[in-house]
Amino acid sequence: MKFVALDEGYVKKEHMQAVETIHGLTSVIFHEHPPVDKEEVVDRIGDADLVTSRLYVQYDAELLTRCKNLKAIFAQAVGYNNIDIEFATEKGIRVYNTPAYSANAVAELIFSTITFLARKVSPAREHVIFGGTEYRIFEGFELRGKRMGIVGAGNVGSTVGKIGQGFGMVVNYHTKHPSEKRAAKLGIKQFISLKELLQISDIVVLAVPLNASTEGMIGKKELGLMKKDAIIVNHARQKVIDELALAEFLVNGRLGGASLDMLLEDPFQIRKFPILIQEMVNLPNVIVTPHIGAETREANHALGEIFLQNVKNFLKGDLMNCVNA
Ligand code: GLV
Repeated sequence: MKFVALDEGYVKKEHMQAVETIHGLTSVIFHEHPPVDKEEVVDRIGDADLVTSRLYVQYDAELLTRCKNLKAIFAQAVGYNNIDIEFATEKGIRVYNTPAYSANAVAELIFSTITFLARKVSPAREHVIFGGTEYRIFEGFELRGKRMGIVGAGNVGSTVGKIGQGFGMVVNYHTKHPSEKRAAKLGIKQFISLKELLQISDIVVLAVPLNASTEGMIGKKELGLMKKDAIIVNHARQKVIDELALAEFLVNGRLGGASLDMLLEDPFQIRKFPILIQEMVNLPNVIVTPHIGAETREANHALGEIFLQNVKNFLKGDLMNCVNA
């Protein structure tokens, strides 16, 4: 079987290169630089059986049709919103992901930025850098006793919830797939509606995958339901929130703050931010990071191990971590 890595991937070099030692692969090609466009993606895949890449590559129906030999795609991520799963399944192409490798890393970052926002750490730090010594202007608020609303009850959501409880917060969850079993696992009596969650929460955390039912789930209407001083956290995928509507709310002071870890690199499209987004990014009550949630030594190591195991598993016919088995 032929394996091709379309770019350097997210796993560290040693894990990527270890693919060469996997029994059963007749050819292994690593590309370090990302392909410049879709045509180059098709060329690089050629007659390969197995492929991996970063998330910007859209494995849509057209690409999957043109890459006739493809048998498996190895996402180096929990999310696989860049792959047309239905079509891949129809074509008999297996899709593997790396579940849970980063839940703790992502949850810890979410909490770090929440505390930074609540205590105005970023503007206070900047104040000192520019020679300031004032502290009265940085009165923040404590998390203890505040309401946290978590949208999504998966690995990240439940880990964030546990940390929130440790801070003495009242934690509520909303999920599109409520069940008694899931509620029991989270230690809650019941899930609440998205509307109620948005209305009552001081901190709203979005911890959902991007798919047809979550794309744009937070728009103008939903933001309008939130408390004027509430903080919203999106460390999931950019498209879960209507970014321009969010920027408008923040720039006009109609929300307390935001933490956004979602600016995914995309070599096909250098992002030029509209003025409104630039204004939002510069606000003292907004923290925007370039999708660093999983960027820890521990998560990177786990990612590499799971990715390698997935390739081995596929060759053995083992469907663990195959999302369309
Ligand atoms: C990162 O965004 C992931 O899906 O693992």
